[in-house]
Amino acid sequence: MNNDPKWYIVTGASSGIGRSIATTLLNRGKNVVLTSRTVSKLEDTVRDYTSDRYRIIPWDLSDLSSLNDYAKTVKSQVGAISGLVHSAGTQKTIPLAMTTKDRIDEVFNLNSFAAMILVSLFSKNGYFNNEGTSFVLISSMAAHEGAVGKAIYGASKGAIEGFMLPAAAELVSKKIRLNALIAGIVETPLAEQFLSKATEEQRKALEKSYPLGFGEPEDIAEFAAFLLEDTSKWITGQKFIIDGGHTVRAV
Ligand SMILES: NC(=O)c1ccc[n+]([C@@H]2O[C@H](COP(=O)([O-])OP(=O)(O)OC[C@H]3O[C@@H](n4cnc5c(N)ncnc54)[C@H](OP(=O)(O)O)[C@@H]3O)[C@@H](O)[C@H]2O)c1
Repeated sequence: MNNDPKWYIVTGASSGIGRSIATTLLNRGKNVVLTSRTVSKLEDTVRDYTSDRYRIIPWDLSDLSSLNDYAKTVKSQVGAISGLVHSAGTQKTIPLAMTTKDRIDEVFNLNSFAAMILVSLFSKNGYFNNEGTSFVLISSMAAHEGAVGKAIYGASKGAIEGFMLPAAAELVSKKIRLNALIAGIVETPLAEQFLSKATEEQRKALEKSYPLGFGEPEDIAEFAAFLLEDTSKWITGQKFIIDGGHTVRAV
């Protein structure tokens, strides 16, 4: 029997960082709504947990006009939420010469616009826990340093960082906290997509720029869980770089 009324949404819970955040929360006794497009992979995430502790709500979050229905579906299944982390994301390497409006839309719809709309929808009365709620966005070092082919991805992450602080100011009176994590390279299928295209030499150079090595999903998940839980109840409107020493490396 599950008596803990707190529910947390994890988008992107079928893979990488989102999957690790979902299991970290479940391991800490929290209840989790898991969302991505692929039910079978979401089921893999929760294989070791009892079904009263989670809900699988598959959704294509880049379908922005459907997000109102998504919020209503979550509310009807678990009531008001105590937290949300938007870890669903897409990283496309798009050289500037191949940039089109459709490709920009694809990246921004999921990485930026869905993040903003989810924060907006779940901060409406009745959708969040009035005693304290926490939202976490996942940004990337790609918004903070040069990398060929990452302009659109970096811009999509810059957009959520720009959104975070003014939105946090608006939400604080509702006891909703909003923070962002800025991650360096974390070994996930998303990172493997571009690492696999690098030459041996490029990969070695990149690895060398991470004095503590590339990250593991758990390195982000532990901090995300801390930000979602009440242990961080005095923290809002902040960005935290987690990057294995990438920004402090000696050159
Ligand atoms: N890995 C890194 O090095 C790194 C660094 C900085 C920031 N980040 C950010 O961290 C977040 C998680 O990335 P990751 O590395 O864990 O990537 P990942 O392993 O590829 O996971 C991406 C997740 O997003 C979901 N997703 C993709 N399109 C979706 C859609 N249209 N609707 C709903 N869900 C969708 C995927 O599930 P389905 O395919 O089942 O839909 C999957 O669960 C992303 O925002 C990424 O930009 C990653």
